[in-house]
Amino acid sequence: MAKEHLILCMGSACHQLGVYEVLPKLQALMRDYQLEDQVVLKGSFCLETCSDGITMKFRDRLFLNINPQNIEAKFVEEILPAVQAERV
Ligand code: FES
Repeated sequence: MAKEHLILCMGSACHQLGVYEVLPKLQALMRDYQLEDQVVLKGSFCLETCSDGITMKFRDRLFLNINPQNIEAKFVEEILPAVQAERV
């Protein structure tokens, strides 16, 4: 099955908020939870939710207010279940 894209905003607002600290943590989490066979992490331009903190997107769902401190909790509680949910 083709890999799906897990998108991380690398736009300037998200950059200011520390996306470059989030990125290595996210890569480590993807390794730890063995998601690398399922999804590819992609950077994107602004996802147009700058006022809601660092943003990620998977399928049609946005994950907002990510920061270097909460990425692990957000990943486990929100992103991982979304990635593991069946495709519709
Ligand atoms: S720069 Fe990330 S949402 Fe705009």
